Amino acid sequence: MDKMKLMVSRHSVRSYTDKKIPEDIVEKLRKKIESVNEESGLNFKLVTDEPVAFGGFLPKYGSFKNVKNYIICAGENVPDFDEQSGYYGEELVLYCQELGLNSCWVGLTVNKKKVKEEMKPGETLGCVIAIGYSSTQGVPHKNKDVAKVTSVPAPWPAWFKNGVKGAMLAPTAVNSQRFKISLSKDGKVIITAGRGPYAQVDLGIVKYQFMLGAGPDFPGFA
Ligand SMILES: Cc1cc2nc3c(=O)[nH]c(=O)nc-3n(C[C@H](O)[C@H](O)[C@H](O)COP(=O)(O)O)c2cc1C
Repeated sequence: MDKMKLMVSRHSVRSYTDKKIPEDIVEKLRKKIESVNEESGLNFKLVTDEPVAFGGFLPKYGSFKNVKNYIICAGENVPDFDEQSGYYGEELVLYCQELGLNSCWVGLTVNKKKVKEEMKPGETLGCVIAIGYSSTQGVPHKNKDVAKVTSVPAPWPAWFKNGVKGAMLAPTAVNSQRFKISLSKDGKVIITAGRGPYAQVDLGIVKYQFMLGAGPDFPGFA
């Protein structure tokens, strides 16, 4: 599927229907998670039909409603855990989108005690990604002025333009978009994080979406 279309169509969705995720879709997602875990060394985990982490029978938990399926971003406490979990977590978010599932990154409004019960002892918990079916596809987020995230002078080659587009479409905590994009002397891409509790997770997410948007001509990160 066209990757830019996937990024354009993805928006955070916080209210889900009772529709169960069919077994064949669960199986596809499990396989994808297995391959992402192998590549990243992280330990993402899919949990299905489990309502407690998002409030059990409460009508609403934070701004979330009826979340019964989620992906836990877990792994060893390596120094770049947050950035890596953002990068590979976004790969999973976009795969969910491709499978017709809605999603939302969640840093705060989830019962972490319950989530930890689903993890191996000693593992680090990053964010959780709520997934499921919704009657809405969400809405596009507001964007900062592009000049606030990059001062690379025009004209931009197509790969850079599309990379920036991907980055601007990326989900960031409270839609802060506090990243900066520049180029190194040898033409590689530099993306730096702002400050804030989820800045490193955001950085990973934004890097993934930049790379995907830039496409085959992407020169790599510096
Ligand atoms: C690292 C991270 C943590 C987030 N944590 C929460 C959260 O705790 N609660 C929530 O409702 N949304 C959370 N979000 C969703 C953001 O608010 C949302 O991605 C942002 O407003 C941009 O909207 P979009 O995802 O529709 O593009 C989080 C997003 C990210 C990337």
